[in-house]
Amino acid sequence: MKNVLIQLKNLTKKFGDFFAVKGIDLVIRQGEIVGFLGPNGAGKTTTMKMMANLLKPNDGEVLIRANGELQKLTNKNKDYLLDNIGFLIEIPYFYGKVTPKEILKYFAKLKGYPRKNINERVDTVLEMIGMLEWKDKKIGTFSKGMKQKIGIVSAIIHDPEIIILDEPQTGLDPTARKEVRDFIINLKKSGKTVFLSSHLLYEISEVADRIAIIHNGKLIAFDTLDNLEGKAMKSVIHFELFNSLDGDIEETINKLKTIIVPLTGISEEESWINYNNDSKVFQVFFNGNPKNQTEILRTLLENGYEILEYSVPKAGLLESLFIELTKKNEKRGDL
Ligand SMILES: Nc1ncnc2c1ncn2[C@@H]1O[C@H](COP(=O)(O)OP(=O)(O)OP(=O)(O)O)[C@@H](O)[C@H]1O
Ligand SMILES: [Mg+2]
Repeated sequence: MKNVLIQLKNLTKKFGDFFAVKGIDLVIRQGEIVGFLGPNGAGKTTTMKMMANLLKPNDGEVLIRANGELQKLTNKNKDYLLDNIGFLIEIPYFYGKVTPKEILKYFAKLKGYPRKNINERVDTVLEMIGMLEWKDKKIGTFSKGMKQKIGIVSAIIHDPEIIILDEPQTGLDPTARKEVRDFIINLKKSGKTVFLSSHLLYEISEVADRIAIIHNGKLIAFDTLDNLEGKAMKSVIHFELFNSLDGDIEETINKLKTIIVPLTGISEEESWINYNNDSKVFQVFFNGNPKNQTEILRTLLENGYEILEYSVPKAGLLESLFIELTKKNEKRGDL
């Protein structure tokens, strides 16, 4: 197995009495892309700020590999340990009158990149993000997305081995998001290690080797996407009935539960059927197995239900996984 480059141990941050990050354990290995997924306010930025030594943990520690061993990050050794990491935690503010070339040269010098290679390096990173032709244009004329892309490459200008990006795709249009996605995949191809946060499930699932899901400051899952899906198993059937619903909806749902739940492949206490009053769509939580899906449809028809629509939305699978995991965490009630 590849070396651990970064380890978070019981990492904890409180603001007053509020736990923004609570006991996070996580390892990032050489050459992998780890996605850090969580809804707004989950604790992603706070965690990354502790990794950059911008915030002090209240408990736990950040360990970073240097000279062949994992070392605890402190004020004393921060320059030495963080030297080989590129951070984008907040999109930097750029003075409008400067050009990408000027700003990137400035960052490269600041980070001690060999002077004679700086011009070449600036061209390389601008090329990587598809902005070489903008090298000498004033940033003041750039769109928000273009500025963001300059921010992203400013994090890697000194060619660090580890790259930590906080929501690099937020606010970008689909084309720019794809460019950033390809940029991240290329970093991995060139042997780099990437830790990347997002609340966009799709963006994370497209690039990450492993996904860490954070919710209310706690890590609730950390695995490959396949394993996460396997563990969460579940999927959701959507269907609409043609029959007018006589009687109250509670009664209908209870009747449906009696005939459907035994076919969902999910225990009675874990299973659920929802009805959305606006869309008139029923949702059935099931084990995701096509056999169960067909069996449920057949049983509905046999029981005289006329089905108008019956589907298992694909995009809904990842979405329901995310919702399911965060919901379970809330149920535990130990937040
Ligand atoms: N300096 C601070 N003082 C008080 N509370 C804070 C501070 N910084 C963050 N928080 C709180 O900590 C929680 C986690 O915030 P954080 O910014 O880490 O979330 P996030 O996962 O990055 O969210 P987003 O997706 O919105 O960027 C939030 O509830 C936030 O309000
Ligand atoms: Mg954030």
